[in-house]
Amino acid sequence: MQSRVLPLEEGKDPTPITKTNHSRVLPLKLLKFFGLFLVLGLGFSILSMFMIRYLGVQNVLTTVQSSFRPCLEEPSSLEHWIRPPSILLHTMNDEELFWRASLAPRIKKYPFMRVPKIAFMFLTRGPLPLSPIWERFLKGNEELYSVYVHSLPSYRDEFPPSSVFYQRQIPSQVSEWGKMSMCDAERRLLANALLDISNEWFVLLSESCIPLHNFSTVYHYIMRSRYSFIGSFDEPGPYGRGRYNWKMEPEVNITQWRKGSQWFEVNRRLAVNIVEDNKFYPKFEEFCRPACYVDEHYFPTMLTILTPHLLANRSITWVDWSRGGPHPATFGKADITEEFLKKILEGHKCLYNNQPSSFCFLFARKFAPSSLEPLLQFAPKFFGF
Ligand SMILES: *[C@@H]1O[C@H](CO)[C@@H](O)[C@H](O)[C@H]1NC(C)=O
Ligand SMILES: *[C@@H]1O[C@H](CO)[C@@H](O)[C@H](O)[C@H]1NC(C)=O
Ligand SMILES: *[C@@H]1O[C@H](CO)[C@@H](O)[C@H](O)[C@H]1NC(C)=O
Repeated sequence: MQSRVLPLEEGKDPTPITKTNHSRVLPLKLLKFFGLFLVLGLGFSILSMFMIRYLGVQNVLTTVQSSFRPCLEEPSSLEHWIRPPSILLHTMNDEELFWRASLAPRIKKYPFMRVPKIAFMFLTRGPLPLSPIWERFLKGNEELYSVYVHSLPSYRDEFPPSSVFYQRQIPSQVSEWGKMSMCDAERRLLANALLDISNEWFVLLSESCIPLHNFSTVYHYIMRSRYSFIGSFDEPGPYGRGRYNWKMEPEVNITQWRKGSQWFEVNRRLAVNIVEDNKFYPKFEEFCRPACYVDEHYFPTMLTILTPHLLANRSITWVDWSRGGPHPATFGKADITEEFLKKILEGHKCLYNNQPSSFCFLFARKFAPSSLEPLLQFAPKFFGF
């Protein structure tokens, strides 16, 4: 044994000697180790330098990337182009996002089985107090819908993985009622939803909206309609034509000026029209400011000019203006009675595919958080879910 040979340590307990010996060997090992690393590192740098010099940076990068590509991805297959983004958060700004979302196929026949989906787009400040009713409404129809939520950028929701709202927040910005930032938020929702090629219909909703029928009824009503449901009417008074500004000519003249509720349902073609627009946007941004509430005029007017033959000119979201004033009625717990629900569901008149109909509304607003409990209770009997 080596330790015993050391003369200075004679007669002492051998344990500490072994320790000294060990600590002498360790640096040597470490040194060898570092040496190996140094050689390896040098070799690698020389190799990369060589590769960059003779193959070019791009080639080296592609070589590196291709060797790290996960085996799921098949960039050369059609699947790659039709799969929706699995993560909604992205780093595109609006300009980049709208450009990407405006890419639309020119061949109308899809070369694959495409099941058209409804995109439910929630424009909110933060929490969704009525989410349980939407969860119940959507449950079991996973192939036929997708959900998008635009909220204040600082807001983080806490839905569990089992929720239909789980990780469905899109990159958002502050938006104010009646201002262009509100239309920006709506376009942002449309653009994000357009990234999923299966989304065919786009419904704008708020945190105070509820569905009035079961999912299959809603789906078929929208699918079978020849028109998109966006409120659009020519109102002569101060709150209609009175908000028109002559400086909007020639893009928009007074006879084309329209008003309508912001809660729309549009098909994919109109959604692209809205996202790609750079002709009407500057006019509305500059000349429709409070007391001209741009979210009530921009899309109805623009779509009336571009595609009047595709508009139903009415909304499918019921709202109660009968109390008067600048805001519609909000309903709480005490308002939710059988009579009230009958009133919402019955006694309406409208056109559906040019035929007179009494079935006019698929959604309703505005409902306070306190209405949730009675609504859930009445839903099976009145809404069918
Ligand atoms: C949905 O409601 C309609 C009409 O009320 C009904 O005929 C249909 O059976 C319901 N569908 C489901 C899946 O509950
Ligand atoms: C507005 O535009 C429409 C369509 O281009 C045109 O028919 C109409 O005469 C114009 N009205 C005015 C007042 O300029
Ligand atoms: C909606 O209004 C436009 C003109 O504002 C009209 O051309 C179109 O036919 C209307 N749609 C329906 C379904 O009546």
